[in-house]
Amino acid sequence: MTVLITYATKMGATASIAAAIGVELRAAGFTVDVHELGAVQAVTPYDAVILGSAIYQGRWLPEAVRFLRRHERQLRTRRVWLFHSGPIGTGSRPDQPVPADVARLAREIGAPPVKTFAGDLQPDAVLHHADLERLVGDSRDWQDVRAWSHHIATALETPPAD
Ligand SMILES: Cc1cc2nc3c(=O)[nH]c(=O)nc-3n(C[C@H](O)[C@H](O)[C@H](O)COP(=O)(O)O)c2cc1C
Repeated sequence: MTVLITYATKMGATASIAAAIGVELRAAGFTVDVHELGAVQAVTPYDAVILGSAIYQGRWLPEAVRFLRRHERQLRTRRVWLFHSGPIGTGSRPDQPVPADVARLAREIGAPPVKTFAGDLQPDAVLHHADLERLVGDSRDWQDVRAWSHHIATALETPPAD
């Protein structure tokens, strides 16, 4: 069972989440590649694909949406999980709304609901966004990342329902 974990990032937070999922799935015995989206030519060598994007202004990064469109047909015949990394700041970290274009593609691919992970906002990211300065900090929840990875590992060990 080979798994591709691929991601779109601007500042690196989503890359680290993807890498952490990779660590967990390898420890569970799967063969795992972790690559930025631009480095992935095809999904056909993989049995399962986990794809994540950072959220900016309520949208996924365009390369992630393009990737879902380009590989839609191949993704339909694979196990696929999607996540996005966004909410920052202390307090509640509600699930982020899934952008309409991503929701439509996720439905067509047959992916389960998109998982929201809390994000990381570094000072250089808010240079031109003074309104976000008070939110600077790392909100990522590694326990949540591990739990989701274990959920996927269990699902991969179970044949998909017809
Ligand atoms: C200008 C700007 C806009 C953002 N908009 C959103 C947003 O709409 N929703 C959200 O949940 N997070 C938003 N964020 C937070 C980022 O998604 C978060 O920091 C994410 O973890 C960054 O991922 P990356 O380091 O992989 O690029 C925004 C951050 C910046 C700097």
